[in-house]
Amino acid sequence: MRYVEVGGVRVSAIGLGTWQFGSREWGYGDSYAGNEALAIARRALDLGINLIDTAEIYAFGRSERIVGQAIAGRRDEAFLATKVFPVLPLASIVMQRALASADRLGIETIDLYQVHWPNPVIPLASTMLGMARLLRTGVIRHVGVSNFGLKRWQDAERLLGGPVLSNQVQYNLVARGPESDVVPFAQRNGRIVIAYSPLAQGFLTAKYDGSKAPGGVRASNSLFLPENLARGAELLNGLRDVAKSHGATPAQVALAWLIRRPNVVAIPGASSVAQLEANAAAADLELSDEEDRQLREAAERFVPLSGLTAMPHLLRARLRTG
Ligand SMILES: NC(=O)c1ccc[n+]([C@@H]2O[C@H](COP(=O)([O-])OP(=O)(O)OC[C@H]3O[C@@H](n4cnc5c(N)ncnc54)[C@H](OP(=O)(O)O)[C@@H]3O)[C@@H](O)[C@H]2O)c1
Repeated sequence: MRYVEVGGVRVSAIGLGTWQFGSREWGYGDSYAGNEALAIARRALDLGINLIDTAEIYAFGRSERIVGQAIAGRRDEAFLATKVFPVLPLASIVMQRALASADRLGIETIDLYQVHWPNPVIPLASTMLGMARLLRTGVIRHVGVSNFGLKRWQDAERLLGGPVLSNQVQYNLVARGPESDVVPFAQRNGRIVIAYSPLAQGFLTAKYDGSKAPGGVRASNSLFLPENLARGAELLNGLRDVAKSHGATPAQVALAWLIRRPNVVAIPGASSVAQLEANAAAADLELSDEEDRQLREAAERFVPLSGLTAMPHLLRARLRTG
């Protein structure tokens, strides 16, 4: 495993996302939540993955409980990141929520406590006051944000009076918005970008073109529309070609592409231990500058149907499967 050492922490370049753990929207079922999920998290630790990302909202606390169960007796091997769901993120509420998350995780101190989404109504100052108190009292080690634009991230730092270690944002070959400001900021200032949906929820694995689109939460992800899988052919074939020359898979190439960027770590979710193992191995896959460029350019030529244009196609796809 490769590690990123920034701001006094050492986190694995490939982490583990656990939204899938127990969440109905992924549709993996009870057997996954009760067995496979635990095995995935334990195997992650075996392979040197220390960054495990969860959130109080994932399966309404069940994901945190599963992670807690998996790391029991192995606390020191993990860097645990969880998130407060910002319905009413006032200082006192943020503090109560952190204690409840720590309790579900079965730990004293949360390594990274993140604000899951910005709240447009509650002043960020109040949220950050709660975070500052959590830091002072040792309930959390580091503060992070998620889905924050650069200005809001900087505001959070000013209001906290110290570094906000990380920003967890959607970042992958087909969602490259963070490259314009968030990633350069992290690189210049010793912060971390935690890339979520690094496989674009499975689109970049190149296993869904030509096969049945996945259901659950992905039924409303327009990337899986047949029209978009067809439009993505050049990129998906590009991933296949690079993968072939390395004896790797397209998913591994998509992850390796991301974590070539300094200060960027990726947190893929996994539906099986085998996937987790393949994702961990992507940390050792070295792409050349030329391969990086080819993939970037193929991604730039991919213009998927999205937003309102994709809506009627999504409805039609729903009706066909439903
Ligand atoms: N902060 C936020 O707002 C936010 C939002 C979304 C996600 N996240 C975090 O980011 C994590 C990852 O994002 P995500 O779950 O949305 O998407 P993702 O990691 O891009 O995709 C995960 C899915 O891809 C497939 N997959 C994974 N590894 C594979 C491999 N090696 N080969 C083939 N298929 C593979 C699996 O689905 P199948 O096998 O079923 O195809 C898996 O469930 C989440 O678990 C969560 O922790 C955070």
